[in-house]
Amino acid sequence: MSAATAESVMIESVLREKRVFAPAAEFSQRAHIKSMDEYRALWQRAYDDPEGFWAEQAAILDWFRRWDKVLEWNEPFAKWFIGGQLNACYNCVDRHLATWRRNKVAILWEGEPGDTRVLRYLDLHREVCRFANVLKQLGLTKGDRVTIYMPLIPEAVVAMLACARIGVTHSVVFGGFSAEALADRNNDAKARVVITADGGYRRGKIVPLKANTDQALQRSPTVEKVVVVRRTGENVPMTSGRDFWWHELIANASPDCPPEPLDSEHPLFILYTSGSTGKPKGVLHTTGGYLVGAALTHKWVFDIRDEDTYWCTADIGWVTGHSYSVYGPLANGTTVVLYEGAPNHPREDRFWEIVERYRVSVFYTAPTAIRSFMRWGEHWPKQHDLSSLRLLGSVGEPINPEAWMWYYEVIGQKRCPIVDTWWQTETGMIMISPLPGATPTKPGSCTFPLPGVVAEIVDKQGRPVPRGQGGYLVIKRPWPAMLRTLYGDDERYRKQYWEQIPHVYFTADGARQDEDGYFWVMGRVDDVLNVAGHRLSTMEVESALVSHPKVTEAAAVGRPDPIKGEALVCFVTLAAGVQPSEALKQELREHVAKEIGPIARPDDIRFTDALPKTRSGKIMRRLLRDIAAGRETVGDITTLEDYSVLARLREEEE
Ligand code: PRX
Repeated sequence: MSAATAESVMIESVLREKRVFAPAAEFSQRAHIKSMDEYRALWQRAYDDPEGFWAEQAAILDWFRRWDKVLEWNEPFAKWFIGGQLNACYNCVDRHLATWRRNKVAILWEGEPGDTRVLRYLDLHREVCRFANVLKQLGLTKGDRVTIYMPLIPEAVVAMLACARIGVTHSVVFGGFSAEALADRNNDAKARVVITADGGYRRGKIVPLKANTDQALQRSPTVEKVVVVRRTGENVPMTSGRDFWWHELIANASPDCPPEPLDSEHPLFILYTSGSTGKPKGVLHTTGGYLVGAALTHKWVFDIRDEDTYWCTADIGWVTGHSYSVYGPLANGTTVVLYEGAPNHPREDRFWEIVERYRVSVFYTAPTAIRSFMRWGEHWPKQHDLSSLRLLGSVGEPINPEAWMWYYEVIGQKRCPIVDTWWQTETGMIMISPLPGATPTKPGSCTFPLPGVVAEIVDKQGRPVPRGQGGYLVIKRPWPAMLRTLYGDDERYRKQYWEQIPHVYFTADGARQDEDGYFWVMGRVDDVLNVAGHRLSTMEVESALVSHPKVTEAAAVGRPDPIKGEALVCFVTLAAGVQPSEALKQELREHVAKEIGPIARPDDIRFTDALPKTRSGKIMRRLLRDIAAGRETVGDITTLEDYSVLARLREEEE
């Protein structure tokens, strides 16, 4: 339970953290939501009449047919804007063509090697239509699933929107996942097509996406065809009849492809994320409610205006990339910056160089990145003109007050409000966050629920806990962008989210409210780790480890890490006769990277004779977490020493 450590850290910071930063008057005056009074009135309006509120907000989109009913709530299954018809791609692209935005830049893209591309809304429309026709030619029809396994290049966005245009459900798999993980996701979604690239660039190296795809396809029986973007120019084998080059397919594709009118509840995408068991969960989002939530929160939280140049640094393989690099901003007609590569390539100032070059005004990134910037030093951002920035955002894990202050002072130059946005793959949209023109912020707090979001902190029985006391963060009412189910597994959806605490959505986060009602999220209370902003399941890592023939048993836990938030520590017992060694540690680290992806490579492997267990045989991860955290300076630990410590801890526990 990662919350135990996060909690102790956060309790301390809540006690210590008394600084409050009110929005500047000039910022508030021009903001969409200008004051706390305005925020409170909106929140109350939504609370008193949720359906009326959301019906009003749904006007942010263009609908082909208006809905008959706003919400049908049959716990735990929600339907929003029933009877309504729309198309997400139409809302993100076509509707801007009827306005002056037809010539506005939609995407300012930069590749890691330094190549650049600019797509106006007009250009995006043409590319999307042509590729949508390609998808049709490949035999895809409404309701099919497609896997997108790509670097962050414009074609990735084009592919997502082209799917949305014809009613094909996309499942984007992050390029840092392995062939094994890709195959699992292809199979679970029963994907018919994989869209990939020959490779992508990461820190100067090439990520072999096509080679991984080929390997995954050896056990992805549902996949019939593969579309490959030429990105790196590397020589990759193409299987005739199965693999097709993107550029060849679109060469003859017509740019005329009317958007399909789709039901509001038509599945827009599946996104796999880690849960507390080994099998990744296919979080399913649908069209109308999701897009209303993404567009509205993008407008309010980032206080978006037409003249903004907006950059969310997340990869499209994560939900942040879906909601706040693609669907939210494009629905709002925003100019979006996309960058393919690493923040420290070729140097540690790459992000600031991009901010300066494109005059980025709104910048959204993750605490783990901010902590890396802190470590690399102020001299990197100081070499650049960051005066275009007006608003900063943070997402993915709790931001420690030190990182918040550094972000505020060094990047924002004490001029830019910070929005610390709490949400999840499952919530689809930002749920708890400051509104930058209204909310006085406290470093480390995501402040208050947005209008339409009813959040509470409760105990295991669902009773509200007093202010200042920690508990479980829950959401008490359905919201439009909520997940509809776990793909193909309604029961798991019900159990995971709606039965842990009766009749509320269980976030699996621990949190507290301070005396002023501010929310402070402390971290996960389940077996999910947050390593450098990546969500990993301890069970997933453990099952990867025990799939290695030399491993008998394994337990994965998080250890607080100054940069990554949590580092991944694995305790491993070896099969009889296998000798522990440094080489074996390395072999196991690589094994996990191969099974899940480089993002899951353990930071530390420790061999032990036995794992601490309860009498019923459950591994006591809490003890292991203590050991993982407390032993940081001890260096290499022999099995015997480990065992004695574990045994002693076990006695204390019983
Ligand atoms: O623990 C919370 C943490 O990230 C989890 C969700 O991870 P994921 O689905 O990968 O989505 C990340 C991007 C939305 C949450 O359960 N988390 C996310 N944002 C914050 C956060 N914890 C504290 N503060 C945040 N702002």
